[in-house]
Amino acid sequence: MILVTGGTGLVGSHLLYQLSLENDTIRAIYRKKSNLEAVKNVFSYFSTDFEKLFKKIEWVEADITDIVTLEKAFKNITEVYHSAALVSFNPKDYNKLRKVNIEGTANIVNLSIENNIKKLCFVSSIAAVGRSINSKYIDESNEWDIEKSNYGYAISKYGAEIEIWRASQEGIPVVIVNPGVILGAGFWNTGSGNLFSKIHKGFKFYSEGITGYVSVNDVVKAMILLMKSDVKNERFILVSENISFREIFNIIALKFNKKKPTIKATKLMSEIGWRLETIKSFLINKPPLLTKHSSKSIHQKRYFSSEKIKKTLDFKFEPISKSIDSICKLFLKDI
Ligand SMILES: NC(=O)c1ccc[n+]([C@@H]2O[C@H](COP(=O)([O-])OP(=O)(O)OC[C@H]3O[C@@H](n4cnc5c(N)ncnc54)[C@H](OP(=O)(O)O)[C@@H]3O)[C@@H](O)[C@H]2O)c1
Repeated sequence: MILVTGGTGLVGSHLLYQLSLENDTIRAIYRKKSNLEAVKNVFSYFSTDFEKLFKKIEWVEADITDIVTLEKAFKNITEVYHSAALVSFNPKDYNKLRKVNIEGTANIVNLSIENNIKKLCFVSSIAAVGRSINSKYIDESNEWDIEKSNYGYAISKYGAEIEIWRASQEGIPVVIVNPGVILGAGFWNTGSGNLFSKIHKGFKFYSEGITGYVSVNDVVKAMILLMKSDVKNERFILVSENISFREIFNIIALKFNKKKPTIKATKLMSEIGWRLETIKSFLINKPPLLTKHSSKSIHQKRYFSSEKIKKTLDFKFEPISKSIDSICKLFLKDI
């Protein structure tokens, strides 16, 4: 049986839907605070038969940092998709990031070894891939460097990858995907979903920074194909297109029939912004909207190459404007 972690998040819920089309039962972990209705809502986007498909999931309450609950979730499991993680750029979350993303992954690896799992798929991130020195494009061979990517989330995803390679050394076939910013429907107040909510409300700022984007459909498709293939012990960057924040914001605004953001966020504005946000976050005890890291990254231009997955699986990515079009339609349906 397949086990999915992170099934109550963006990637995991879309993954569960695709797996439910091909499997009679799938096990997924959830926590007391998890929102299972949000997962069912994702299922409802794609099928009128969503209730029946949703019932194929056997939900087991478990936390990846709690071995006792995880042990129960691993009973009779043969394949694992590990997508659970804390996604945070708040410097205050450094210890939590290490605990959930590194220790949590170590627990998944230990139980995969103990249960002699046939294959393990891990969702990493482009944050765990290094910069390129000789080429404009960053690929899987670029080793991550703590000197250049020393923020908590990147450290924790890189640390998690090391745990996954440990599984491969113990004889468990593994595949790692390193997606860029994942665009997908259903979680409008977190992650990239927030972007759609903000632009729909008339967000006015943009920057000229460039990074890689990919649709959640492509991430899930690549994960399932890799698990079914003979490929093992490899990692794959998943980026459909490298696009500027300005262009992404413009495409979303256009689909929503809203005005394009008009105020260019300069480096100076970002420097002031993250400092003000830190003070505000301290006073109101809420995560800052802009951190020291994100204030820099919105101005960086990074280009990623997905040639490896394209060649290995003859993989074709969905164009980003097409993904945004369908996501915006689902956003308007939900609100
Ligand atoms: N979103 C992106 O743009 C992006 C880009 C590249 C890579 N990634 C990676 O893709 C994966 C999925 O991200 P996502 O966007 O789907 O994130 P998400 O929507 O925030 O979902 C995170 C999932 O992890 C679960 N989780 C967190 N802490 C846990 C714990 N201690 N025990 C068990 N489950 C726990 C959450 O459960 P609850 O529902 O209970 O909180 C949720 O199901 C992550 O590994 C992330 O690093 C994301």
